[in-house]
Amino acid sequence: MTVLVTGANRGLGSAFASALVERGAMKVYAAARDPEAIRTPGVTAVGLDVTDHTQLAGLAERLSDVTMVINNSGIHRRTSLFDDDAVDVVESVLRTNLLGTLAVSAAFTPVIIANGAGVIANMLSAGSWLAGPGNLAYAVSKAAALSLTNNMRAELGPKGVQVTAIHAGFIDTDMMAAFPGAKLSPRDVSNAALSAIAEGAQEVLVDEMSWRAKTASALPVPGFPA
Ligand SMILES: NC(=O)c1ccc[n+]([C@@H]2O[C@H](COP(=O)([O-])OP(=O)(O)OC[C@H]3O[C@@H](n4cnc5c(N)ncnc54)[C@H](OP(=O)(O)O)[C@@H]3O)[C@@H](O)[C@H]2O)c1
Repeated sequence: MTVLVTGANRGLGSAFASALVERGAMKVYAAARDPEAIRTPGVTAVGLDVTDHTQLAGLAERLSDVTMVINNSGIHRRTSLFDDDAVDVVESVLRTNLLGTLAVSAAFTPVIIANGAGVIANMLSAGSWLAGPGNLAYAVSKAAALSLTNNMRAELGPKGVQVTAIHAGFIDTDMMAAFPGAKLSPRDVSNAALSAIAEGAQEVLVDEMSWRAKTASALPVPGFPA
């Protein structure tokens, strides 16, 4: 398996890259906006800003042995409907978390199909199903990315491409540095996700928070406060 991991310079992406090397992946392309920031032994560093779609055609041509993509890059910005710049912030988060995932997947789908079969795994979140004050941009982006993932699966499944959605609650990375509560280790999340992907899982609910968020989304919407 030859794998491309986006956002692989730190956080969960770097944990995915090292776990893949340890698991004996044939080749791991660790992509980052600044490829010099890649420190993981055993990977090939490549430059990729997922919002720069002009880079992608050339990259897909160059990395023509890829059989698996992990769309890990993501950003979180606190946003509220009351913020003057709410539309701009949501747009910018969607550009990375939704359109970046779409653009990378669209560029590498022909490569994966040409190589026989493979996997596209999208790093989503328990937040795909959650709503809360301040979380507008991120939650909208992950809910939309979940729909993107489901629609990709509908098209790519019949072509032999496994499309896996990975959901997790709080993970101990820069993104959640300000959150004081209990967090999952990036190592545990990447290992749980990679084991499930290897077994053919189309959805990975890494922790109880994800299970609860998904289950709660099937309950009736609460009544309007009196
Ligand atoms: N942390 C959590 O609690 C949590 C929970 C569930 C899901 N997730 C998801 O897990 C994924 C990884 O997040 P993390 O926790 O590892 O966050 P992180 O530590 O903030 O790392 C985010 C990564 O995404 C990269 N990135 C951001 N914008 C990019 C762009 N335009 N092009 C390429 N790379 C870009 C960053 O690169 P730079 O260094 O260049 O900024 C960095 O490598 C995200 O999709 C996130 O939504 C996180």
